[in-house]
Amino acid sequence: MTRGRDARRTGAGLPSVDGMRVLVTGGAGFIGTHVVDALLARGHEVVSYDAVLASAHSGPPRAARAGERLVVGDVRDPDAVAAALHGVDAVCHQAAMVGLGKDFADAPEYVGCNDLGTAVLLAAMARAGVRDLVLAGSMVVYGEGRYACASHGVVRPGPRAGADLAAGRFEPRCPSCGAELAPGLVGEDAPVDPRNVYATTKLAQEHLSAAWARATGGRAVSLRYHNVYGPGMPRDTPYAGVAALFRSALARGEAPRVFEDGGQRRDFVHVRDVAAAVATALEAVRGSGAGMSAASEGTFTAYNTGSGEPHTVGEMARALADAYGGPAPVVTGEYRLGDVRHVTADSARLRAAFGWKPEVGFADGMREFARAALR
Ligand SMILES: NC(=O)c1ccc[n+]([C@@H]2O[C@H](COP(=O)([O-])OP(=O)(O)OC[C@H]3O[C@@H](n4cnc5c(N)ncnc54)[C@H](O)[C@@H]3O)[C@@H](O)[C@H]2O)c1
Ligand SMILES: [Zn+2]
Repeated sequence: MTRGRDARRTGAGLPSVDGMRVLVTGGAGFIGTHVVDALLARGHEVVSYDAVLASAHSGPPRAARAGERLVVGDVRDPDAVAAALHGVDAVCHQAAMVGLGKDFADAPEYVGCNDLGTAVLLAAMARAGVRDLVLAGSMVVYGEGRYACASHGVVRPGPRAGADLAAGRFEPRCPSCGAELAPGLVGEDAPVDPRNVYATTKLAQEHLSAAWARATGGRAVSLRYHNVYGPGMPRDTPYAGVAALFRSALARGEAPRVFEDGGQRRDFVHVRDVAAAVATALEAVRGSGAGMSAASEGTFTAYNTGSGEPHTVGEMARALADAYGGPAPVVTGEYRLGDVRHVTADSARLRAAFGWKPEVGFADGMREFARAALR
């Protein structure tokens, strides 16, 4: 079999390749599992590689799919990673510790899994001659999203002060005049400003990937996912996303507890849309090796991956509670210092580069998620 060499154009005019073998790190996780399914459905072979961390999994990993080899291993383990890379054409790096964590004592574990792990993986790819990488990036690299002041134009508000949050002043203010700001869509060229340990590690993963691409002539793409939700999301843990916290509360017969005043704006993107974006990007990047132009040698490119439809956390809680038929959400005024107020994506670059577009709308996605199983 010729793997990945015979690039062709699909009907949509997108670069594509036949029969790649893809290593999916974090393949037993929430998004990784959907990526595996998307790749298998498009006729690729998959080696999944996952440490099945206790912070993410309460039991054994899911069963391997037909056409998938599921390896339990840690990305920090160079020998195991080298073995898993055997015969692999492209890598999709999803493995990471996610969420805000319990407290700062988690920092070494985050940096170990996410940054040391990425360095070990990239070094093994350099040795094995694997040149195509799609990284699971995150919108957390932006910190607070994009804001404009009526008098000062686009501004960058600093971290919100604990005293403001405690007094219920949740909106960031203009650093020059203190006026309330209007939130907008954040583009990839916005300055990065990670606000917590996890965000810092996600940014370092991108910088490592860019350095690897330059040093090896590799092609690296980071898809900066916004708030991903859908079937198979982990249950509520200190590492879980807000949609999973609300869904778990409803399953216990409790009202979703909405922090701040519920007005935080996010972009909730369905996990199947994210998996489709990843598969499309992998094919395009791989296709570039056979003369396509989606990514050039030695480059790193970041793409926002969002639905393009901003919603508040309060709206999401209501949509989910309605669809579930559970108690109405309670707005608590609680807050977490590492949280940002608004961050919503402009995903135009991803749509233009790969012809991707989200298929699952907010209302339909939340209705399905209300009924779906959590992990
Ligand atoms: N869920 C979201 O909304 C979201 C948003 C932005 C980015 N992301 C990124 O997407 C990726 C997948 O996240 P997810 O939501 O599916 O989380 P998840 O916890 O369900 O999946 C992550 C997987 O990585 C594995 N893993 C962690 N450390 C590892 C290590 N050292 N070696 C091998 N495997 C390891 C875990 O066991 C887990 O199965 C992560 O890189 C995350 O940063 C997620
Ligand atoms: Zn101002």
